[in-house]
Amino acid sequence: VFTDQQTKCLGQLGQLADFHRIELFLVGGAVRDILRGEVSQDSDLDILVEGDAKDFATKAKDRFGGRLKVFERFFTAKLINPDAFDGIGEIDFASSRSEIYQVPGALPLVKCASLSEDLKRRDFSINATAFSVRLFANLAEGQALSREQIDMALIDPFQGKADLAQGLIRILHSESFRDDPTRMFRALRYVVRVGGALESLTELAFRKAIHLDYLSTISFKRRFNELVKMLLEVDAAAVIQLAADTGLFKSTFINTHADSERFSHVLSKVLEHMGAQVFDSSESVEKLLFFVFFDCTPAAQQEQLFQDLAISKKTQKQLLKEWISLLKGEYQSSYSREAQAVFGAVNDL
Ligand code: CTP
Repeated sequence: VFTDQQTKCLGQLGQLADFHRIELFLVGGAVRDILRGEVSQDSDLDILVEGDAKDFATKAKDRFGGRLKVFERFFTAKLINPDAFDGIGEIDFASSRSEIYQVPGALPLVKCASLSEDLKRRDFSINATAFSVRLFANLAEGQALSREQIDMALIDPFQGKADLAQGLIRILHSESFRDDPTRMFRALRYVVRVGGALESLTELAFRKAIHLDYLSTISFKRRFNELVKMLLEVDAAAVIQLAADTGLFKSTFINTHADSERFSHVLSKVLEHMGAQVFDSSESVEKLLFFVFFDCTPAAQQEQLFQDLAISKKTQKQLLKEWISLLKGEYQSSYSREAQAVFGAVNDL
């Protein structure tokens, strides 16, 4: 699951944690990868510290070298290019925390808390599992963790492992989507990723969230950012289809005046055209999504679209120039492939 360098790094972090009697954990995506036996593509490591992340990151810097960056407000710290581990870009340390949502959709109040509190605040059972880094401390060089070791050490208060095996996406409490509506987008991404479905009570909560329009409590920019993540998924076409089928798009655009049906048709066509060609960066996806939105937003609201997405005047000019030229049939090879892909899809409808 991990590269040799990552295993070595986890082993030495585990030893350092042992020495200082601090608990470190892998959580979220890393544990999903361990459970599914998937190889981590990332050169970075995310570590949850049960205690003071800044304090432990400082100890790690003293021991392994590298550059330390501390984000006091977020209870996180980052060790960049640690000298002791070739090929590890960054180690992100975060203190375990609890969250209180005072206003639906607003960012929560955060305070340091135990691992168990931290797992409770998470989105889905498959992401609320943890694995102690100390386990790596006793591995000999080149040795990997055995299935038994993994099963014995897994911390899994919400049966995330069983849900992952069955492909079920399950929220941890009934108001999860109200607290944080971005989880509606996340839920569909995970459904497609694990080739599964929403668990039945989660599906009810999802429908209620659509019906009561919880998405209107978060800014359009935040909704847009979640769409970007959807398009970065390996099977983006399936995620887009699911979002259209579940009514997520209607709900997403309700106060933007964009035509949600046209939006999903154009987007599906774009993906069809692009075939296996995946997006290489979130900038590219943002640009592409912008053109799709632009196409399905009435002229009177287009200025608002620029404002909602905080697009600078200079970029606005460039985007409009490309789009208008394409509309006029003035093809230029210098125009971005995003504008051309959307233009081609619109023409094909
Ligand atoms: N999380 C959450 N609610 C959100 C966003 C994130 O509870 N709205 C938690 C989840 O437990 C998630 C972790 O924060 O596992 C990290 O978030 P993120 O990096 O977005 O997800 P990963 O699990 O790393 O998965 P991936 O990046 O593969 O989507």
